[in-house]
Amino acid sequence: MEIVIVPDPAAAGELIAAAITDLLTDKPEALLGVATGSTPLPIYQSLAARVADGRLDASRARICQLDEYVGLPAGHPESYRSVVLREVVEPLGLTEDSFLGPDGNAEDIAAAAIAYDRALAEAGGVDLQILGIGTDGHIGFNEPCSSLSSRTRIKTLTRQTRVDNARFFDSIDQVPHHVITQGIGTILEARHLVLLATGEAKAEAVALAVEGPLAAVVPASALQLHQHATVVVDEAAASKLKLAGYFRDTYAAKPAWQGL
Ligand code: PGA
Repeated sequence: MEIVIVPDPAAAGELIAAAITDLLTDKPEALLGVATGSTPLPIYQSLAARVADGRLDASRARICQLDEYVGLPAGHPESYRSVVLREVVEPLGLTEDSFLGPDGNAEDIAAAAIAYDRALAEAGGVDLQILGIGTDGHIGFNEPCSSLSSRTRIKTLTRQTRVDNARFFDSIDQVPHHVITQGIGTILEARHLVLLATGEAKAEAVALAVEGPLAAVVPASALQLHQHATVVVDEAAASKLKLAGYFRDTYAAKPAWQGL
């Protein structure tokens, strides 16, 4: 696992957008797994700017969702389908044809989850998966004690996650209790995992995930099992890392040809 400490969220967005630009240059039809929430927005803004000024041709890229609320009406502005279409697909000049996501309104949610897991595999697998981290250490919506080999399925949100996400709704009562999320085992099948965390509120979860033991109680610690996992943190989110000095030295001395 590589830990990259950057000055601020804007620098993180530029760094990850540059890695995605390299990926799409090598593989124009790459499947890019995107996360929702506030943290990855600088990545999407940088990608859109690169498309606008011609540094990036994303016209053949494919985009897929990490997770989805269960039961929000179709077209609800806070469904993750709507968020990804608004924040990623449209700004990159893509259409819904290039987009894959689970159906959070299916009558049979269990079957919809299995179907999404299969659709990801049939699409050739995720090339680069962007991840955030919850204050409780979740990735996707895999809450603490999710199986480290879990597949895409329904999960129940913790109270903490519903509190964290209430800012997107009029009140916490409107935040769904249930979600469909790629499982941890599903996420680990992506070829490159890039977790971004910014701000002091994520420092504890980042330290536990990166330097703590591999444990289902900290789902993001599963990145320790992946051959190509990159954790990008700003100074605030890095503030509880004991090995911060080592991570800085390593990145400063990294050969440029290695990329992220
Ligand atoms: P956030 O969400 O980026 O809005 O903090 C992260 C997450 O819950 O995974």
